[in-house]
Amino acid sequence: MHAMPNSKNAINLIDSFEKIPVKIFATPKEGSVYGAKEIAHLIREKQARNEDCVLGLATGSTPISLYAELVRLHREEGLSFKNVITFNLDEYYPLEREALQSYWSFMHRHLFNHIDIKPENIHIPNGSLPKEDIKKHCLKYDQLIDAVGGIDLQILGIGNNGHIGFNEPGSSIFSKTRLVTLDNSTRIANSRDFQNISQVPRLAVSMGISTILKAKRVLLLGWGNKAAIIAKSVEGNVTEQIPASILQQHNDCTFIVDEIAAAELTRIKSPWLTGECEWTNKMIKRAVINMALKLNKPVLSLTTHDYNENGLSDLLVEKGDAYEINLQVFYMLRDTITGWPGGKPNAVIPNHPERSTPHPKRCLIFSPHPDDDIISMGGTFMRLHDQGHEVHVAYQTSGNIAVTDEFVTRFLDFAVGFEQMFDIDNHKSLEVLNAARTYLATKKVNQIDSAEIRAIKGLIRVCEAKATCRYVGLTDDRAHFLNLPFYETGMIEKKPMGEEDILITMELLQKLQPHQIYCAGDLADPHGTHKVCLDIVFESMRRLKASGEKWVKDCWVWLYKGAWQEWDMDEIEMAIAMSPDQVMKKRFGIFIHQSQKDMVPFQGSDSREFWQRAEDRNAHTANLYAQLGLTKYAAIEAFVRWHY
Ligand code: F6R
Repeated sequence: MHAMPNSKNAINLIDSFEKIPVKIFATPKEGSVYGAKEIAHLIREKQARNEDCVLGLATGSTPISLYAELVRLHREEGLSFKNVITFNLDEYYPLEREALQSYWSFMHRHLFNHIDIKPENIHIPNGSLPKEDIKKHCLKYDQLIDAVGGIDLQILGIGNNGHIGFNEPGSSIFSKTRLVTLDNSTRIANSRDFQNISQVPRLAVSMGISTILKAKRVLLLGWGNKAAIIAKSVEGNVTEQIPASILQQHNDCTFIVDEIAAAELTRIKSPWLTGECEWTNKMIKRAVINMALKLNKPVLSLTTHDYNENGLSDLLVEKGDAYEINLQVFYMLRDTITGWPGGKPNAVIPNHPERSTPHPKRCLIFSPHPDDDIISMGGTFMRLHDQGHEVHVAYQTSGNIAVTDEFVTRFLDFAVGFEQMFDIDNHKSLEVLNAARTYLATKKVNQIDSAEIRAIKGLIRVCEAKATCRYVGLTDDRAHFLNLPFYETGMIEKKPMGEEDILITMELLQKLQPHQIYCAGDLADPHGTHKVCLDIVFESMRRLKASGEKWVKDCWVWLYKGAWQEWDMDEIEMAIAMSPDQVMKKRFGIFIHQSQKDMVPFQGSDSREFWQRAEDRNAHTANLYAQLGLTKYAAIEAFVRWHY
């Protein structure tokens, strides 16, 4: 199949590689507000003509903020859904509609329960029919869509493998609503909503590609970590291997993305290839590093020929000699590497990532979960302490959902035995242990833990975090447990950032008045805990700055990445080098989090343990520096500065 940009799109896209129009917004929220406005406009337009408005709807993490905005428009701006008929894309099979993870539940939780849509106008594929009835059900679903005049506006998300609806790679362009098998990668991605992968259904009922293509207008939303697949879908060839690329053949389809999801588009990633480009130092660094990595050459070995062959002849015209540019980029890379995350005292080092004064500094590490500090920046954490800084850690959430039930009885057993050992009345703890045993024995799959069990799980994690702080050398008063309320739903789906989360965070910041802050900068995780935790710190700092707090002016914020991702090489502004011994010390620090070792609930798509992910990632960063021609360290932890 050939990439055939539709004529409407082609007019707008002369200067770009994009074959589908892409609208880029600063944040998912802004993109959602735009999407909701488009929907509201259509609904009202149809209302004015006394017509029904037929919407095709998606589920998953992506449209949550869109639905929140539609609910707001209904509540605050009188948007009525009385003339709206909806058809959802898909439903797991088999799954009862009452299950927490069913798309029926999802849609009611996020949208239908909060608007005035007529229940008879809601259509969601049924995931609980006997298999022999499914074919008929699917046929009827497509007929129903046709009977109401087809879908006016179809909302889509996109899977990391390019699926739309549950049309996995290989789905035919002619496919209709049908029973489909979920890709393993989809089951892994969606396992975040289930206790573990084995509970994710293997099948689903999904609208077909042809059903989707028949919609009069399509809006595909994509946030954060979808950057790679979005670029492939809009810039690559049309192929059934990337179902979303087939949307190139639709004549009114738009992708709505946030800046992070747009990052891999050529016009953003390599703007020099799509036209004029302003050659800032940042841009030069990115272009040269990308070329060196692609050619697998050290920066200082790049030649004029390499520049010309890789679309960078403009840069040569503007900045001159290849060797001079190589040197400039080499120095930029070199200046990021240091062993002194808090700045090197009594030394004047131009271009050092951190200030040498004041020394020592008061540093505050924000750790979204109780182990992110040691997993993501354990080497830096230890260095800061060893170099005499006053290091505090703020554990933002309790992390209680990631503890298995077995840990609860194990620790309660300990509490009972401990009291017995020291002749303390263990009547109460025995009662708690027995109650927990009974509760857990009858607990259903996916049942939310009781408040008591959650508190015990949270305490287990508090003890692990405290033990890690002690291992690094911190006294107990340096560990602050914020227990932010947004997290305490007992489910994977958390509440959005709330006022109380911000006030708790501001209070700690104001008390400590740090010179340096570290936080998990997982910008590409739009609905995850890390992103909410980051937004809370950002909002707190902005408010403190606006209120004129003097210390804020002198406080630098460094972002580390959580779990196993790392910043791109051209983004890194501070690279903390680690020796093999430090790598081992960090590993043992991670081991202290026993409740997170081996199998943890909600592990997601990576079966490696956390210490392995951390080591692989830190070694990988060190290798990339070496590949670019810098010294080879055992491991490197990387940071980007946030300016506010
Ligand atoms: C959901 C659906 C899927 C999702 C896709 C992205 O109804 O049809 O195609 O849109 O899997 O999921 P999230 O938004 O969770 O990343």
